[in-house]
Amino acid sequence: MEAQNTQPKKQRIFSAIQPTGVFTLGNYIGAVRNWDTLQEEYECIYAIADLHAITVMQEPAELRKNTMQAFALMLACGMDPKRSITFVQSQNPHHAELSWVLSCSTMFGELSRMTQFKDKSQRHADNINAGLFTYPVLMAADILAYNADLVPIGADQKQHLELARNIAQRFNQRFGETFTVPDGYFPKQGARLMSLQDPTKKMSKSDENANGCVYILDDKDTILRKFKRAVTDSDTEVCYKEGKDGINNLMTIYGAVTGKTMDEITAEFAGKGYGDFKIAVGEAVADHLEPVRSEFARLIADKAYLTECMTNGAQQAYHLTSKLIRKVYRRVGFIDRL
Ligand code: TRP
Repeated sequence: MEAQNTQPKKQRIFSAIQPTGVFTLGNYIGAVRNWDTLQEEYECIYAIADLHAITVMQEPAELRKNTMQAFALMLACGMDPKRSITFVQSQNPHHAELSWVLSCSTMFGELSRMTQFKDKSQRHADNINAGLFTYPVLMAADILAYNADLVPIGADQKQHLELARNIAQRFNQRFGETFTVPDGYFPKQGARLMSLQDPTKKMSKSDENANGCVYILDDKDTILRKFKRAVTDSDTEVCYKEGKDGINNLMTIYGAVTGKTMDEITAEFAGKGYGDFKIAVGEAVADHLEPVRSEFARLIADKAYLTECMTNGAQQAYHLTSKLIRKVYRRVGFIDRL
């Protein structure tokens, strides 16, 4: 008798990141280091959003380099090309094609309400291009092209996801069931890390003080230096208490990378000063990130392998979206695609 596959079909996750900058320690501890389990439980599709990146001014050679790096970083952080699809957005032409069709189901008024557009138009007042305006439509196309069930996003992308849902529903109503209406994916929040320089603010790339934020590719010396300079308080005891934001944050970080509880940490540093504690946190973080750093270094030196993974990823992505784009073209009344 034929073996029955009783495994329920995995839900599909789609997400993308722009090829700008490196993950922060906060991103890593909060989400990225859980990718392994994520890939176990879901079918994951991750893109490097280079099409989105050109909505702000980019130096072409830089963009290409950053795209390579972002891709290598995804793999170094555990995206496994055998289990998941990792690819570069511009290498699957269906994103741009679907984006056009969806833009005709998106209202000018809706896009005008997007707060990110308003923010970015202020920040890039010399380059308020149409792509910046239609950016959320392209994002909707990314998600809807794969019939994704779930989309992991930060708070800043919530409004865009809501728009993607509205576009999907509108299209489905007008042309018949075509797209899965996606939901946000909000994993159990790992530790939330704060800036080392202002521990009342979230650790973020946009911290105006470079020492406030640790990046996962920072070398050991840089990491140690940032932790040595971390802002604390005038007390001396390493313990988790209200009002000790700096120490609380360092304890959270130390706990997240060593698995130790707050009590264990307090006991470990009883009678020692903040200086010793800061060095210990820096060392533990550097050790924790070392495998990612060395894997990244290995990958970025192996262009042939990276290119091969990109090509495979893009082909798989293209294959996945082919059927749906055909359906969409037929539904809106185009002559059959070639
Ligand atoms: N706009 C997202 C960001 O800047 C990146 C992105 C592009 C994305 N397409 C997406 C995220 C689709 C989730 C799903 O963070």
